[in-house]
Amino acid sequence: MQEIFDKANEVLRQVQAEAPTDKESLEQYRIKYLGTKGLIKDLFGGMGKLPGDQKKDYGQLMNTIKQAAEEKYEALKAQFEGSAEDAKPDFDLTAPGYTNEIGARHPISITKNRIIEIFSCIGFTVAEGPEIEDDWHNFTALGTPKDHPARDMQDTFYITVDKNTLLRTHTSSVQIRMMESQQPPLRILMPGRVYRNETISARAHCTFHQVEGLYIDEGVSFADLKQTMFYFVREMFGQNTEIRFRPSFFPFTEPSAEVDISCFICGSKGCAVCKQSGWVEIGGCGMVDPVVMENCNLDPKKYSGFAFGMGIERVTMLKYQINDLRLFFENDLRFLKQFQQA
Ligand code: DAH
Repeated sequence: MQEIFDKANEVLRQVQAEAPTDKESLEQYRIKYLGTKGLIKDLFGGMGKLPGDQKKDYGQLMNTIKQAAEEKYEALKAQFEGSAEDAKPDFDLTAPGYTNEIGARHPISITKNRIIEIFSCIGFTVAEGPEIEDDWHNFTALGTPKDHPARDMQDTFYITVDKNTLLRTHTSSVQIRMMESQQPPLRILMPGRVYRNETISARAHCTFHQVEGLYIDEGVSFADLKQTMFYFVREMFGQNTEIRFRPSFFPFTEPSAEVDISCFICGSKGCAVCKQSGWVEIGGCGMVDPVVMENCNLDPKKYSGFAFGMGIERVTMLKYQINDLRLFFENDLRFLKQFQQA
């Protein structure tokens, strides 16, 4: 009967010695020792052949073997599963990837770029000036000294108590800087942000954008101004656009005019946008006042020129039929993503 004990001890030795290194060999181990047709089950079968007094010792030996095999199996199983868990990426490599949202260009930038493009075709260059201005460039040099009633046309944010430093109320201030620093011929486009102390509504904001144009040379006439504006509106709003000049007043131009375009939304038949008039206003313009030239040390007997100013929000609202100015400043992607740069 010693044979049966020897066989069992041999199995115990193997159970202890064998060292599965991965999940697969561990499964082989389980089948070999602990499976329903495994060696341990087989050994239990030998029990019946033993005389009664040896059964107890054999039974204990069996339990030792079974326990050793089970413990080893459980320990390695935990180890392999743990390490498999670590090695497994915590994301699904086959899942479709996240796409990064690409921002869209702001409609104000789109319009600004288009205006620049149109004017650059006829020789205009681009310049910018400071948003924090002094009284001279924003008002006085533009024919609007401190006591001038035209100052009331624009509600100014003053920065200093002496009212000498302010947030520019229009881009016309950049005209002065250009005339002071350069000699004609000047053909310059000056886009930028301006500020006015106005109550925010669908039609007004305390900050918005303008683009200023300036053309100074010998012999520049109002006809040049008209043709330039005509060229611009046709490029911007379509080749069938008509143009109209209404006499107006600005302290820095003489004569001055406001420019209207035929309402391309209703084909001049009359709609809410043009308030049934068939015309919509897009900006102001005029011949540069000789006094303004003198303020910048340019000789008005030698030179003449025209200037114009347009609201970029206004042009954008007309072009894309946007009815609330505040949309431009809210940065809501659902709004901003609707505009594609041409
Ligand atoms: N600066 C004027 C405004 O903000 C617009 C303007 C009108 C600009 C006539 C000009 C001009 O250059 O000639 O309302």
